[in-house]
Amino acid sequence: MRLPDLARWGDLAGRRVLVRVDLNTPVARVAGRLEVSDDFRIRAALPVLSGLLARGATVVAATHFGRPKGAVVAEFSVEPVRRRLAELCPGVELLENLRFDPGEEADDRAFGEALIAGFDYYVNEAFSASHRAHASIMIPPSVVPSAAGPNLQREVAALSGLLEHPARPFVAIVGGAKVSDKLGIVDVLAQRADRVLVGGGMAYTFLAAAGHAVGSSLLDASRLEDCRALLATGKVLIPTDALGLSDGDPVGRDGGPRPALAFGEEIPDGCVGLDIGPASIAAFASVIAGARTILWNGPMGVFEDPRFGAGTEAVARAVAASGANSVVGGGDSVAALGQFGLSDQVSFVSTGGGASLEFVEFGDLPGLRALRESPFP
Ligand code: 3PG
Ligand code: MG
Repeated sequence: MRLPDLARWGDLAGRRVLVRVDLNTPVARVAGRLEVSDDFRIRAALPVLSGLLARGATVVAATHFGRPKGAVVAEFSVEPVRRRLAELCPGVELLENLRFDPGEEADDRAFGEALIAGFDYYVNEAFSASHRAHASIMIPPSVVPSAAGPNLQREVAALSGLLEHPARPFVAIVGGAKVSDKLGIVDVLAQRADRVLVGGGMAYTFLAAAGHAVGSSLLDASRLEDCRALLATGKVLIPTDALGLSDGDPVGRDGGPRPALAFGEEIPDGCVGLDIGPASIAAFASVIAGARTILWNGPMGVFEDPRFGAGTEAVARAVAASGANSVVGGGDSVAALGQFGLSDQVSFVSTGGGASLEFVEFGDLPGLRALRESPFP
């Protein structure tokens, strides 16, 4: 996919550039005030911001931050992000949270035009927000000359490569909690990949669809028929055992009072599955070891709790060791890679969770379309 590039503008002395970034970063309270607790997304934005400064431009960045739903909510102020950005890249102004105005999520034309007023150029460096048809993503490219930032270009190239000419076998690994969010992607991957490994909370709806008891594990009864159809493709591999707890036993970062229970294919009443078990780990790891292309999105279990981290860790290690062209997306899978010290052992870490899945599912995103349709040379 060809997207307009910012190299074509040459010298930018005296020009004003608005850069849409995604600095939606986690924050934590430190000594009574919120501070950025993971600055991965801020660091990722530095090359485009400092590159534009070096070309002489006045650079203003804009981001959403959390989901304040169109109202000014103090805890969603970008202030902590602004402080961290000022340390890492002085000289760039950061506008207040775009989602403080209802016009942002409504893709309101007047809001978008007011945002870009006074700027000569627009850059979209927010791949991870480009699946949202929101005003700051959609409107500026129709008003001023616009371009894709370097990270956005790289994301699109990495994901397009998987879709267009994957070395085979192409193995997709999909996990996470919500089956309804992921069925579309499993469907597309069942057509494009050679195997689709399904784990995480979403796997229990597949297990139930295959006729197994799932106790009180996560289940979306409205999607059983869809899961059955996907299983019938013969491409989808689901877990054959699980680790879990009795109902009501707490799950947490420091583990809980009781050890994990081991289940086979059937999870008894009064119990909940929270990770894939050792037989599933062995089966998944052996498929992953033979892969030449891998797409991984979503954890295999509740890995924040050390009792239920083995499945996600084993998948992360198998992906890292595979030697395949591996693309990992989604906040949780990326966090898991970091937690296990494997971030630099995969081919590409996507900043976009929802955006990378939607790109794979639909082959395009609203924000990419807006850039391609920009009428300026
Ligand atoms: C994210 O963190 O997933 C992106 O910034 C998009 O945020 P959103 O899901 O609130 O639109
Ligand atoms: Mg999200």
